[in-house]
Amino acid sequence: MVLVGLARSSSELEEAEASLEELALLADTAGAEAVERVLQVRDTPEPATYLGSGKAREVIHLAKALHASAVIFDDELAPAQGRNLEDLAGVNPLAPDQLKIIDRTGLILDVFSQHAHSAEGKLQVELAQLTYDLPRLRGWGEVLSRMGGGIGTRRGPGETKLEVDRRRIRRRLQKLRRDLEDLERTRETKRGRRVRSGVPQISLVGYTNSGKSTLLNALTGAGVLVEDRLFSTLDPTARRLSLPDGRDVVLTDTVGFVKKLPHTLVEAFRSTLEETAGSDLLLHVVDAAQPDPVAHLEAVERVLAEIGAQDLPSMVVLNKRDLLPAGGAVALAARFPGSVFISALTGEGLDDLLSVVADRIRAAHLVAEFFVPFERGDIRSQLHDEAEVLDESFEPGGARLQVRTSTAVLARLGEYLVDAPLEGAGAGEDG
Ligand code: GTP
Repeated sequence: MVLVGLARSSSELEEAEASLEELALLADTAGAEAVERVLQVRDTPEPATYLGSGKAREVIHLAKALHASAVIFDDELAPAQGRNLEDLAGVNPLAPDQLKIIDRTGLILDVFSQHAHSAEGKLQVELAQLTYDLPRLRGWGEVLSRMGGGIGTRRGPGETKLEVDRRRIRRRLQKLRRDLEDLERTRETKRGRRVRSGVPQISLVGYTNSGKSTLLNALTGAGVLVEDRLFSTLDPTARRLSLPDGRDVVLTDTVGFVKKLPHTLVEAFRSTLEETAGSDLLLHVVDAAQPDPVAHLEAVERVLAEIGAQDLPSMVVLNKRDLLPAGGAVALAARFPGSVFISALTGEGLDDLLSVVADRIRAAHLVAEFFVPFERGDIRSQLHDEAEVLDESFEPGGARLQVRTSTAVLARLGEYLVDAPLEGAGAGEDG
């Protein structure tokens, strides 16, 4: 493979190199080896060919000379750019072994499709893939007839194979969306059951390869697949965990984030990611051993904002402490106030992490008393659904409920509150 990137200016060369490095890891995860990297400094991509046309030709020439199977661009190519580059490379569907033109989005989609395990994950990836493919389908019929082929390239009267393919994809997309909606409902029911049980939800989020699965395993013995490749986790895995104060929580691993995560994927994984948005606490796992932890942190925060999870209570967990010299670790921790430094691999710092998590959960789940008039049966059932009801009695005019719940629920139903919530009350009673 030949990897190709653009730096907008020479001051952004380093960033572009880091991005190419990640592209190489992605390619490796997809099972391909990068043989050569090319970076061009250019303030904007060329609309027709992404690189300037001379450079594009040069890259294709190089790839052919190296017998590379593909040129991978470190960005999402517009459909027209992809087509033009394919034309430059002389791609045609009758010779499947020749040079392919691939972009970052296509590569990520490919990796995701290899790593999706659950039924829902697979449907989500297929949805993203077809959405990506639809505007990129090529009317090979034209090319073939130009080449004198042409047999079998026409379908119905006036309908080209391209139109047939597009129609087939649209129909499949509709079916995928319906199937996903069904699965989402099932997920809602399951989640509803967990919320009703009053068990706090904690989600692990973080850049791909930051060590989320390793941490989940270390904390819960869940046996989730851990791989030193990107995106080993595509399906959220929820496990129950007992905190040191005896309180139980549900800890959920989520899909790893990455820079330039294709929008089609964020869309497809929305329901999975939205479960994150319902969490009581986010543990943002950061690989402290890689060169630019802040860039990764920010990339993750951008995706969180896209799914409306930017304001959830969260804490930074700096991971891979074992790979850092002691002094480096102290300096880094100082840059992330309130963070905990751990090594998910050696178990260092996990006790600390658990006790900080217990404090945060205790602070976030308060005991409060509500009085709900009988005519607001809807509010009463919301409390039963979204809070742990510790006690309920009926009085003239309404119901008095003592509940333990999140601050979000307290804020939403505040007008029915009788007592100010008691900070951290009831911790440890349910162990
Ligand atoms: P995705 O599934 O891609 O999102 O990755 P992830 O965040 O779940 O990372 P994972 O747990 O799969 O870990 C990635 C790699 O980092 C694996 O090779 C782990 O063994 C390694 N790793 C995780 N935690 C530590 C740590 O504390 N120290 C060291 N040295 N390696 C670690």
